[in-house]
Amino acid sequence: MLFRRLLCLLAATVATALSAQDQPGLKVTFTSSGKADSRVDRLLALYVPAGQAPTPFLAAGPFGVKWEGDLQSPLRGTFKLSAESSGKFKLSLNGQPLLDGPGIKTVQLNKGANHVVAEIASSDKGDTFVRLSWASKDFPLEPVPPTILTHVADKDLDAATQRREGRLLFAQLNCAACHADAALVPAKGTGMPELGQNAPLLADLGAKYRPEFIADWIADPHAIRPHTLMPKVFAGADAFQKASDIAAMLTQGAKPAEGQAQKDLAPLGGALFANLGCIACHQRPDAEGQDTHDRIPLAHVGDKWSQSALVEFLKDPAKNYAATRMPHFRLEDEEAAQLASYLTSHSRMIKRKALAGDATRGATLIVSAGCLNCHAGMPATTQPTLASVLKAGDKGCLADDEKTRANAPDFSLTAAQRAALKAFLATDLASLKQDTPAEFAERQIKNLNCAACHARDCNVSVWTKVVCEAKKVRDALPT
Ligand code: HEC
Ligand code: HEC
Ligand code: HEC
Ligand code: HEC
Repeated sequence: MLFRRLLCLLAATVATALSAQDQPGLKVTFTSSGKADSRVDRLLALYVPAGQAPTPFLAAGPFGVKWEGDLQSPLRGTFKLSAESSGKFKLSLNGQPLLDGPGIKTVQLNKGANHVVAEIASSDKGDTFVRLSWASKDFPLEPVPPTILTHVADKDLDAATQRREGRLLFAQLNCAACHADAALVPAKGTGMPELGQNAPLLADLGAKYRPEFIADWIADPHAIRPHTLMPKVFAGADAFQKASDIAAMLTQGAKPAEGQAQKDLAPLGGALFANLGCIACHQRPDAEGQDTHDRIPLAHVGDKWSQSALVEFLKDPAKNYAATRMPHFRLEDEEAAQLASYLTSHSRMIKRKALAGDATRGATLIVSAGCLNCHAGMPATTQPTLASVLKAGDKGCLADDEKTRANAPDFSLTAAQRAALKAFLATDLASLKQDTPAEFAERQIKNLNCAACHARDCNVSVWTKVVCEAKKVRDALPT
């Protein structure tokens, strides 16, 4: 037991001895009907149900898998290595064959790197699976932990990683909402789960938000929330006017649901903000400047939300946005009111231009600009087809400057993101039609930011990193 607890500590010591090239996890290469795909896995483990594709990038059918990397043993000593697997599994350690099929063997591990190569061929009948475990006299059998597995990246792996990133961007940024193709993109609700998720329902916005805020958001969403999935749709001299027209249309006739922040509740809300882990994903509402942990800003909240709508949002963030990344905390009414009070009374009021928009023009624009393609699943009309996008290269949404981008939306893509999207668009796109649960789970752990609150594989959580900041917020609570 002690050994297991020491593992993270020891792995950290070993890590300092690793070369800069050693990356966490094992390299895994899949091959099927002449095509190859690779990725990094945390564990030497696999489960592919009979008849299913081993990865999203390969077709279903017979396949082979090869793991390569090092097992960084914290000590020299005697261990047991055990594989539970379907038939055709092989493992070699430091160049010597060790296992042929499932089984358990006693081995001598060197301190530091022990080279591991393992292979499995898909079962002729039934599922293909393997899980590699280890044990010693100090601890019982457990999966060989991710903290001691490393690999060295290569060109194939980098290319495959880039394709995967591009695939996820294509789905999350909803490229196919405007660039449609019934043959290449699967119907909503089938294929890759992130594909075709609708953006928030644009309902009752006038009752929830200040209209001036909505115009600013539409005009430049990244200025308010740096990693938002929503693009800046309008460019050019009349961009702000167009945003105002739509904001006027979205808030027309609404009566703002006001409600005042009860300032005396704010300190209790601050304590909740620290204790529930909001602080792990969000900057404090009174925070200024660049955030070291890249958390989501809330400084504008008081300037955006009506108090009662904010309370309702905190109680059920997914109500108008099924794909939200904000967790549901099962807050009591009282807790939601305290949090809302803390957020509004500490955030900045920003002087915004009074709204001067034309709702009738807005009603036309919200359709022609493609807003409703993302927000209501409306089919694409005027935008270039996906076939045309595939041929276009660095144009439109993939352009890196405003002039080349012209009338296309601005997703604020980094050079790496553009390269990833292009690498993905160079594939046959068949990976959109299928997925594997293991890859979806890994993507969701990142997307939903589990690491904000949870340590994993010796990585410290953000919540732990901001423990002193959280203490200050908590200490503001009157005793
Ligand atoms: C809201 C609708 C919308 C979404 C979503 C969208 N685009 Fe576009 N895209 C456009 C419009 C509009 C143009 C430019 C048409 C023009 O210049 O008249 C364009 C142009 C392009 C072009 C150039 C096409 C050509 O034929 O010149 C590429 C490439 C492109 N988009 C890629 C993407 C990618 C990749 C994504 C996802 C990250 C994406 N687009 C998402 C609306 C959209
Ligand atoms: C590529 C898809 C896409 C397009 C195109 C798009 N949006 Fe959005 N929009 C989103 C997403 C996703 C969000 C949720 C915010 C986030 O993820 O950070 C959002 C958020 C919003 C919000 C805030 C809603 C709320 O209640 O929080 C408004 C308002 C909005 N969009 C209006 C528009 C308007 C108007 C247009 C057209 C000018 C537009 N959007 C175009 C994807 C899109
Ligand atoms: C795991 C990360 C995570 C945690 C924890 C979290 N949030 Fe969020 N929150 C988000 C994300 C992401 C958004 C952006 C909207 C979206 O994706 O739907 C958001 C949006 C918000 C908004 C709306 C911001 C705006 O611009 O209108 C508020 C307010 C908010 N969160 C408050 C809280 C509070 C209070 C807590 C703690 C009870 C909390 N959040 C915990 C991720 C998180
Ligand atoms: C806002 C912080 C926060 C975020 C974000 C978060 N968790 Fe948690 N999680 C917790 C807390 C706190 C507990 C402990 C709850 C308790 O003990 O009642 C917990 C418990 C768990 C447990 C049970 C652990 C055990 O030992 O019983 C699992 C599993 C878990 N979380 C997984 C996840 C996953 C997966 C994600 C991302 C989708 C995630 N968590 C995101 C705070 C968070």
